[in-house]
Amino acid sequence: MPSGSEDSMEEGVAPPLRITPLKTVYEDDFLIGNVVPRQYLSEDETYVLTTHHSAATAENAMKPQPLQPDKGNFKFEQADAIVNAVLAAGMKMHGHTLAWHQQSPTWMNEEGVSREEAIENLTTHARTVAEHFRGRVISWDVLNEAINDNPANPADWRASLRQSRWYQTIGPDYVEIVFRAAREGDPDAMLYYNDYNLDNRNKALAVYNMVKELNEKYPNVGGRPLIDGVGMQGHYSLQTNVTNVEDSIKRFGSLGVEVSVTELDVQAGTDYELTETQAISQGVLYARLFNVFKKYAETIARVTMWGLNDDSSWRSERSPTMFDAEFQPKPAFFGALNPTVFIAQNQKGGSKSAVKQAQVHYGTPKLDGNDALWDSAPEIPVNQHLTAWQGATGSAKVLWDDKNLYVLVAVHNAVMNKTNANPREQDSVEVFIDENNGKTGAFEKGDGQYRVNFDNEASFNPASIKSGFTSVAFASGAVYTVAMRIPFKTIKPANGTVVGFDIQINGASPQGMRQSVAMWNDLSGNSAGDTSGYGTLKLMK
Ligand code: G3I
Repeated sequence: MPSGSEDSMEEGVAPPLRITPLKTVYEDDFLIGNVVPRQYLSEDETYVLTTHHSAATAENAMKPQPLQPDKGNFKFEQADAIVNAVLAAGMKMHGHTLAWHQQSPTWMNEEGVSREEAIENLTTHARTVAEHFRGRVISWDVLNEAINDNPANPADWRASLRQSRWYQTIGPDYVEIVFRAAREGDPDAMLYYNDYNLDNRNKALAVYNMVKELNEKYPNVGGRPLIDGVGMQGHYSLQTNVTNVEDSIKRFGSLGVEVSVTELDVQAGTDYELTETQAISQGVLYARLFNVFKKYAETIARVTMWGLNDDSSWRSERSPTMFDAEFQPKPAFFGALNPTVFIAQNQKGGSKSAVKQAQVHYGTPKLDGNDALWDSAPEIPVNQHLTAWQGATGSAKVLWDDKNLYVLVAVHNAVMNKTNANPREQDSVEVFIDENNGKTGAFEKGDGQYRVNFDNEASFNPASIKSGFTSVAFASGAVYTVAMRIPFKTIKPANGTVVGFDIQINGASPQGMRQSVAMWNDLSGNSAGDTSGYGTLKLMK
């Protein structure tokens, strides 16, 4: 009789006070994974990794840059050491990633490399790497982050592809090319398309359409369709809408492919501090997510966390993992371990973060930014990063009168690049308005997204909100300022009116691709169609 059973208790032997490892709790459902951040782990890191996890992903070591820094010069030593240690610990290894627009050497697809050379570089890399690890990895993120954020027309997945160097040198067929090369290199590994913000409906639809079309085109490559799975990274926040996550799991599952949650974390604190309330809310969100994952266990193959503790997380300042800096389990861990009980015990904690509110003074300013009326307006910081950890940030001021809202935003650290044809990839400022603060899952009348780049070129979502809008932009050094006059469409504002509101700053890289997104309040990644995560403005007279 194993110790801890009812019989042994009757005999007066206390059961051992041990927490069931996370991997054991979910062993009939899916693998539980985490990252290996580097070749040598501390004792605490090894303990957390091997005790609670049945799978691992190298956080950086298997990306294109470290594996093939120079053409033909493959460097497998560090990745081999990691993979072999993971296998020796009795865990499964997942490969990340064969093609990405980051952490990839420029020689592969830089300016001047022809389509033929780029195809050769891509296929050689994918085939050689997959072949090298054949038999040691169960699956690969073959292609990472190839779809734009919130694409306007997801029915056309080719038009929704990120303008990455692979896209620019090869064209949209680079997607099927890299999957075919990976299948050749390792016919047994499950081949994944992997991306973030897949709880965004439009982004999920574009991925759905891409996988559907390519699997219909290639129903039998080595005995099965070309793409085996969709990886939902899962870099979430307290504003993440769990229903959107569930909808996407369902949508991808309906394609007959497996789904994995590949990089789960939930940002909740600020400046390396996590209050008790935030920690509970984070626990509730982890619990609600794991309840959904369990419900779709038939579809989900693996749930991998992105960080062994808050200290080593890529987003450490926002305390997003299940273990604190001392490797103590946080409420998030217990939320994942036993979601139903955790939610019942912490109902009051909810999973919502406090919505930011700014009070806005009455006044009709000049848009040149010099009007003294702006001086007394409170400053709104726009510095919470959504998809990257560094990039342009800024601060804003808002005023209102009977007809308009006036927004002045100063952006710092901008490289001021607008070479990308897609306005959202340019250095630009976006203002989101939800006039009746309805916090709806889809835009309704009175909701809108206004974007102005550093060169004062404006774009609108929906296009109809353009009427009556005015903006000016002026740049000086690494700072640019945008001022907007936005007419109210559906409300007659009065003293005390509350309006849903948010600001986003898009930071472009010198190569002309968006590399950072900073927000005032909404970290859901869905602001362009869903107003539920916006902060609020209280209009004061
Ligand atoms: O290796 C160098 C080291 O030599 C140097 O001294 C040090 C100085 O900063 O930098 C080290 O490289 C860093 C690398 O992590 C290893 O620590 C890079 O600067 C840093 O940019 C890199 O960040 C990684 C990031 O991907 C790169 O975009 C994060 O660790 C990693 O968690 C993150 O993971 C990505 C996934 O691959 C894809 N999905 C999003 C996710 C989060 O961004």
